Amino acid sequence: MQPKSFVLKGNVCYSVSPQEVSVTESGYVVCVDGKSAGVFPELPEKYADLPLVDCGDKLVVPGMSDIHIHAPQYAFRGLGMDLELLDWLNTHTFPEEAHYADLGYAGRAYDIFADDLRRSPTTRAVVFGTMHVPATELLMDKLEATGLSTYVGKVNMDRNGGENLEEKTAQSAADTRRWLADVEGRYDHTAPIITPRFTPSVTDELMAELSDIAHEQGLPVQSHLSENPSECGWVKELCPWSSCYGDAYDHFGMLGEHTVMAHCIYSDETETELLCSTGTYVAHCPQSNAQLSSGIAPIRRYLDLGMNVGLGTDVAGGADLSMWRCMADAVAVSKLRWRLVDQDLAPLTTQEAFYLATIGGGSFFGRVGSFEAGYEFDALVLDDSGIRTPRELGVWERLERYVYLAEEGGRLVRKYVSGREIDLA
Ligand code: GUN
Ligand code: FE
Repeated sequence: MQPKSFVLKGNVCYSVSPQEVSVTESGYVVCVDGKSAGVFPELPEKYADLPLVDCGDKLVVPGMSDIHIHAPQYAFRGLGMDLELLDWLNTHTFPEEAHYADLGYAGRAYDIFADDLRRSPTTRAVVFGTMHVPATELLMDKLEATGLSTYVGKVNMDRNGGENLEEKTAQSAADTRRWLADVEGRYDHTAPIITPRFTPSVTDELMAELSDIAHEQGLPVQSHLSENPSECGWVKELCPWSSCYGDAYDHFGMLGEHTVMAHCIYSDETETELLCSTGTYVAHCPQSNAQLSSGIAPIRRYLDLGMNVGLGTDVAGGADLSMWRCMADAVAVSKLRWRLVDQDLAPLTTQEAFYLATIGGGSFFGRVGSFEAGYEFDALVLDDSGIRTPRELGVWERLERYVYLAEEGGRLVRKYVSGREIDLA
C-alpha cells in the first residue's frame, strides 16, 4: 500500500479562477489521505513528519481531465482525417468499432490505449467504449489497472449503424442492464456512464429506456451534441418535435450536471439556454473539430455564461492523447474564431485553457482539478529542462511554454490520482 499522505516540494501552479493562476515558487503541496491539504510557501509544523518528495526546480500542477475520448478509436488515430463527421463515421469509425465483437482484438487494442493513457498527462477521463459488453468490461478492467480515475460507457446504438454496428432496441437496453450488474462493486476508480452515441444512433424508445436506467441507478450520461451541420439537419428530420437538438436529449431528462455533451458548436440560443440552465458539461474538442472540419465552438460565450466546460481529445477525431496539445489547440481555434467569425468573443488565453483542462473538466468528477484544501490530490510533476532557452523565465512563463512545447522537450516525471502514484514506466 502506497502512502496516501505526503508532501511535494516544487514550483506549484493551479487555477483559482479561469483568469487567475496561483503560483508558489519553491513551495509545498500537502496530500493527506489522498486529498490536498493546501499549498504553502513554508511547510507547516503539523506536516513536518510526512514523507517529503523534493521535486527540485520542477513544476507541480493539478492533473488533467480528458472529458471526451473514444477508446476503440485509438487504433486508427491519424488515419482518414480527410472526411466530415457522418462520412468519417461510416467509412472509418463504425467498421473499426465492429472489430470489438472480437475480444482478442479488443484486448490487444485496449492494452495499447490503457498503457498510453497511463503515461499521458491525463489523470481522469470520460471514455466511450463500443456497444459490445464483454469488450467494454475488458476496457474497464484495463483502465482500473492503470490507477487512473475514469468513467467508461458501453455505447448504445439501435439505428443507422449499418449491418455490423447496430443493436435491437430491447437488446441494447437489456445489455446495458446486464453490463451494469456485472460491473457493480467491481472497481475502485472505474465507473459506468450511460452512453447513447448521439441522436441519429438512438431511437426515442431507447433514449427513454436509457434515461430510466440512468435515473434509477443515479448514473451520469455522455453523448454528442451539435457537432456538424449535416448531423444537426438530420436530427431535425429524426426528431421533428424537438425545439433544438439539445431538446432531443432534454425531452428524455438526459441533460444535467452529471451529463457531458461533446462539441456544442452549433448550439443556438434555445440550446445554449438549455445547457446553461441544466448545468450540462460541454466537452470542447478543438483538434477533432478542426480535423473533421466541424467548426469552432463559442467557448468564450459559454465561459461568460458561467457554464460547465472542460476539454476533450475526442480521439480519433483528434489524433492525439495530449492534453497539452488540446489546450494549445483550444487557444488557437478561439483566435481563428475571433478573427474570422465573431469579433465580439475574445480569444481564450493560455490561463483559461489551463483552467479548462484542470478544474473545468475535473469538476465533473467532484472536487478535482485544484490544490485548494479538500480537493482530490491529482498532480503532475513536470521537468521542462529539456525545453532549452538562454532566458530566465518565471514559473508561470515556464508552465505557459510547456503547454505549447511539451512534446518537444517536456517530461512527465510523476503523476498522482487521489494520492495514488501512477507507474509511468
Ligand atoms: N458523433 C457520433 N459518434 C461520434 C464519434 O465517434 N466521434 C465524434 N467526434 N462524433 C460522433
Ligand atoms: Fe466523440
